[in-house]
Amino acid sequence: FTVYVPRDASALSLGAEATASAIAAEAARRGIDVALVRNGSRGLYWLEPMVEVAAPEGRVAYGPVQADDVAALFDADFLHGGRHALALGPTEQIPYLAKQERLTFARVGIVDPRSLDDYRAHGGYRGLENALKMAPADIVAAVTDSGLRGRGGAAFPTGIKWKTCLDASADKKYIVCNADEGDSGTFADRMVMEGDPFVLIEGMTIAGLAVGATQGYIYLRCEYPHARDALNAAIAATTAAGYLGNDVLGSDKAFHLEVRMAAGAYICGEETSLLESLEGKRGQVRFKPPLPAIEGLFGKPTVINNVVTLCSVPGILDKGAAHYRDFGMGRSRGTLPFQLAGNLKRPGLVEKAFGVTLKELIEDFGGGSATGRPIKTVQLGGPLGAYIPPSRYDTPMDYEAFAAIGGMIGHGGLVAFDDSVDMAAQARYAMEFCAIESCGKCTPCRIGSTRGVEVIDRMRANVERDRNEALLRDLCQTMLHGSLCALGGMAPFPVLSALDHYPEDFARSA
Ligand code: NAI
Ligand code: SF4
Repeated sequence: FTVYVPRDASALSLGAEATASAIAAEAARRGIDVALVRNGSRGLYWLEPMVEVAAPEGRVAYGPVQADDVAALFDADFLHGGRHALALGPTEQIPYLAKQERLTFARVGIVDPRSLDDYRAHGGYRGLENALKMAPADIVAAVTDSGLRGRGGAAFPTGIKWKTCLDASADKKYIVCNADEGDSGTFADRMVMEGDPFVLIEGMTIAGLAVGATQGYIYLRCEYPHARDALNAAIAATTAAGYLGNDVLGSDKAFHLEVRMAAGAYICGEETSLLESLEGKRGQVRFKPPLPAIEGLFGKPTVINNVVTLCSVPGILDKGAAHYRDFGMGRSRGTLPFQLAGNLKRPGLVEKAFGVTLKELIEDFGGGSATGRPIKTVQLGGPLGAYIPPSRYDTPMDYEAFAAIGGMIGHGGLVAFDDSVDMAAQARYAMEFCAIESCGKCTPCRIGSTRGVEVIDRMRANVERDRNEALLRDLCQTMLHGSLCALGGMAPFPVLSALDHYPEDFARSA
């Protein structure tokens, strides 16, 4: 019997390790031969630890399974799909999964993240094999045609970024993966690195072939030790099998890859401070231009992409640009792994084509609030994203549609709050966060964020309420237009959206 118990960090935090040990012990006690596969998570986090059993007609799921439940599951003959209160039926038919369009996450939760053979058996490395037969410019053209845009949040067309790097001539070029996933409510990067690390390695190798880079670095968030272990094991396996190294799959192309651990600064998710940090310096933002694609790591042309962007590439090279482009709406092509977090009944990962509405994500997938109270607001796009009021829940997930209402999709993280939230406290938190995380290079962010906290405090205390609101709005304009990078430049979004949509939460004198 093959039984799957996730080794995903969230599943582990919910007891998956104890569940796995209990299954192994109970099977041994009963003399049953059970092969345990430690897969990634399917992303149905309210059901973790979710245990799956391989049955002839597909996998069947049980969850959430704690160690205490294991003996009863054996009694119910769960290895033959037996009935039990925790039975969820065939995994693929669970509506939360069945309604998704998983392209980038196609293998997450399905394959064994430690097995290169399993990756290949599920379509892995077909994209690289195709890319090895193509000219660099044709690989770049395929990525451009797919419509893929940067999934870190800025949504810059990936193919254009790659072309800038390809056209730059240099003796050395780099591919850097930004895996310093720091936004509140986001976990897509972590999930794919833990659950399908080979797809990131394949995506980075294809990027290397496309622009002529021979060295890659994954700059990994320091709080992600499980992802680090999964990536390092996968790098060792792919190197041994000839997918990485001096002659990738017997070609004359070289690509080497290393993981570098970040040190816990939010600003190092900004691409130029990331490069500084990778070079061993203090993570402080650089002026642009020059763009990293022209002068990046150690002054050499460098492609920096987010994890999900790079993980989307192998599928594009395997199934073709049109296949990817056919999903989505407007200029937002393909799919995005939305991360549902905060006060929701069913938090988790939902990969959907662009065009799905916020309402569908919160209600159909998320199931409404976990507390049962009305959802008052959703923060979309991380700590620098705007708070979206219920009147805007029909907005389709599309970069341009959200920009039009003063919001941003960012990295696809969504944090829901019920009606007990104090939006003035949230606005204060945005300014405080900016003050704590500021790299200190420019004045609007360094000084403005601290002044912002003070002004909001005065408003909340009803001290010259209207004058301080005018001051806050003025300060936000200075930060929006005068900051060097997105930290200071976007911190006003949560502040202004809270003020515009929930003015009643900011005290007002009689
Ligand atoms: P940006 O718009 O300046 O640049 C986007 C990317 O395109 C960069 O990699 C830049 O180097 C590249 N680029 C621009 N023009 C290019 C050209 N002609 N050729 C080649 N490459 C070119 O945005 P930035 O400052 O990199 O990021 C800001 C965004 O980051 C925000 O919009 C926000 O959504 C997102 N963000 C994400 C966070 C996260 O944790 N995922 C946190 C904070 C912000
Ligand atoms: Fe540094 Fe803030 Fe200026 Fe960005 S906006 S460069 S984080 S001081």
